[in-house]
Amino acid sequence: MNSKFIIVCVLTTLFLVVRPAMSAAPSCDAVITSFAPCLSYLKNVGSLPSTSCCDNIKVLDQQLPEKQDRKNVCQCIKLAVPVIGTVNNTRVQDVSNSCGSKLYEIPPISPDMNCDNVV
Ligand SMILES: *[C@@H]1O[C@H](CO)[C@@H](O)[C@H](O)[C@H]1NC(C)=O
Repeated sequence: MNSKFIIVCVLTTLFLVVRPAMSAAPSCDAVITSFAPCLSYLKNVGSLPSTSCCDNIKVLDQQLPEKQDRKNVCQCIKLAVPVIGTVNNTRVQDVSNSCGSKLYEIPPISPDMNCDNVV
């Protein structure tokens, strides 16, 4: 492994660890991490979202009192579509219900989802 690569890794790690929380709204990274345990359910695996998925959804829910924050989360998800891949949008719509959360409805996830419609 060359030393430049190691330095980049160390700096990246430091950046991730020390980066201050600027506001209560979660970063894109945090949003995507939160959704990670939900992806299998959203991709038709199993019949219910996992406990860790629901726990994350509930936390996210509490972090998004402002409409603008919810729009930002929508933008994060939209940017991650190429990584997330195809999901079952019926499940996207009812994941928060299934978790017993009042989560604001997540719009159907697609590369051209319109985040201006987020309520
Ligand atoms: C999407 O999920 C719903 C609810 O679980 C299921 O009824 C439906 O068959 C799924 N759709 C596809 C295309 O797999």
